[in-house]
Amino acid sequence: MCRVISISNHKGGVGKTTSVVNIGAGLAYKGRKVLLIDLDPQANLTISLGVSETDNSVYDALVKKTETLKPVNLKPGLDIIPASTELAAAEIELNTETDNEKHIANLIEPLRNEYDYIIMDCPPSLGLLTLNAFAASDEVIIPIQPHFLAVKGLAKIIEVVNGIKTTVNEKVEISAVFAVMYDKRKILHKDVMDTIIMYFDDRVLNAKVRENIALAEAPAVGQDIFEYAPDSNGAFDYGRIVNEIIAMEDKFGK
Ligand SMILES: Nc1ncnc2c1ncn2[C@@H]1O[C@H](COP(=O)(O)OP(=O)(O)OP(=O)(O)O)[C@@H](O)[C@H]1O
Ligand SMILES: [Mg+2]
Repeated sequence: MCRVISISNHKGGVGKTTSVVNIGAGLAYKGRKVLLIDLDPQANLTISLGVSETDNSVYDALVKKTETLKPVNLKPGLDIIPASTELAAAEIELNTETDNEKHIANLIEPLRNEYDYIIMDCPPSLGLLTLNAFAASDEVIIPIQPHFLAVKGLAKIIEVVNGIKTTVNEKVEISAVFAVMYDKRKILHKDVMDTIIMYFDDRVLNAKVRENIALAEAPAVGQDIFEYAPDSNGAFDYGRIVNEIIAMEDKFGK
């Protein structure tokens, strides 16, 4: 069975795309067949992985109705459906259609047999593209930068996931939350994570991603952290996150 996962947080710049790149690559290195889907009109995932072609983008499938999503192969076990900046228009163009939260779910359905993981990089909003991602997902995984306001934002994303769960996709649930840019020396970071554990209990991953410059540098050369700096803290931390996600495979029906 395939796990379809949205990596989402409507707050901008919290490490969603960095997490999709490195969790996706880490899973592929562990022998899983992985498809990444760039659902953000900023196309940061597409650019970070050094993909320039925007033919077969999510936009083409969504709006031009090319019918099928055609993945581009990046390396063994790792494919991507790229985004183009045109995707920003999709939110507006799809708004007028009925059943407009189910487009991605319908497009992904035939691909479920081909992958162990389909991971979507969501934009920093809870707009129609993110709703489509949740409607298509079994799981939502939330990276959190441990600031005071992060806790407030969580209440909103929980509400939206629950809204999708009661209307279009009863399967979807928040399966994991993890800290990014975490500094264990900062009392605030520890306090915020304690509060988040009160909300999410054992769904908070033990592994935390520290601030690590190599994670910010790797996209400039189109590489994941395991290629770019295998001995870095970033590679170590995302390696642990990947192991915890793999450890959940029994629970999530593989
Ligand atoms: N652990 C980290 N340490 C240092 N820099 C990081 C880390 N994680 C992400 N970054 C950097 O922080 C910036 C924001 O990260 P990223 O693009 O992954 O966030 P995002 O949530 O996808 O942003 P957006 O909401 O715009 O899509 C990027 O420049 C990225 O390289
Ligand atoms: Mg992003």
